[in-house]
Amino acid sequence: AGFSRAVGSGPSFPSTRPRRLRSTPALRRMVAETRLHPADLVLPVFVKEGLSEPAPIASMPGVVQHTRESVRKAAAEAVALGLGGIMLFGVPETKDAVGSGATDPDGILNVVTRDVRAEVGDDLVVMADLCLDEFTDHGHCGVLTPGGEVDNDATLVRYAEMGLALADAGVHMVGPSGMMDGQVGFVRAALDHADRTDVGVFAYSAKYASAFYGPFRDAVESSLTGDRRAYQQDPANGAEALREVALDIAEGADTVMVKPAMSYLDVVARVADRFDVPVAAYQISGEYSMIEGAAAHGWIDRERAIAESVLSIRRAGASIVLTYWAAELAASLR
Ligand code: PBG
Repeated sequence: AGFSRAVGSGPSFPSTRPRRLRSTPALRRMVAETRLHPADLVLPVFVKEGLSEPAPIASMPGVVQHTRESVRKAAAEAVALGLGGIMLFGVPETKDAVGSGATDPDGILNVVTRDVRAEVGDDLVVMADLCLDEFTDHGHCGVLTPGGEVDNDATLVRYAEMGLALADAGVHMVGPSGMMDGQVGFVRAALDHADRTDVGVFAYSAKYASAFYGPFRDAVESSLTGDRRAYQQDPANGAEALREVALDIAEGADTVMVKPAMSYLDVVARVADRFDVPVAAYQISGEYSMIEGAAAHGWIDRERAIAESVLSIRRAGASIVLTYWAAELAASLR
């Protein structure tokens, strides 16, 4: 002890001791820079047309494809838990080249939007994924040219129709997620021309072509072969995300999103630093399943890993987090 004192510069070296503020739970709680709150969390849910019982999704243990009935219950529970919102995904019984089910007022996503809105009123933000991939037989996010490319501008017309159908069904915000150029402005203009200035745009602005969407493709029974690299962003690029976000804001996005979350926390931080609209991040299916899978093997502490992962997304700068654990986390925060 004499020696270690001697190497210091004074009687109580070191004089600044960051560990002091970590020494009890109460101290740690008092100085925490980031907190989780149910209102920051959005629950993504899958609803399958014609289903009579909720169906487990093998690659997403704990997540189900809902029935029309069970999703209403999930939405009511989300209200009781004080969640920020719900993001609806539809899994149709039939698909075609242009994704007709997406714009059919009786299509699953529109029907469920109507049901959920009737259940929750304005007590929960009701959002729907505005994209064609669940509804197309080729699984791409848009309509194809004769040569098999995704046709950007023809797809915008379908997105506008889908946005209007969702607005009719009572959605509070649409979530365009297809990464077509101009999608936010096109959908915004269509809503405005239809006098639906009340419907917001929750833009998936910086969305990367990610391997971590794997389990989601099971969840929505995707027909995709190949990948989305010709329209989603290259994981190598960060500055490009800032350009995508700036474009979406200029086109009228109310909020912007980075997706996936955990491999893109640098992008979340840069977007949150630079722009002053609410920033969301989507903790996607593969992020969920990696933690569930490792926890199921006993390799990590499940509850701690869940809380830490969502906290890290908030700390990076996202004020809104889409996570499949939204309900469980909110319950644990009580
Ligand atoms: C597109 C869409 C996808 C996800 C949300 N919206 C899939 C994709 O772009 O391939 C992924 C969500 C997740 O993996 O949890 N409709």
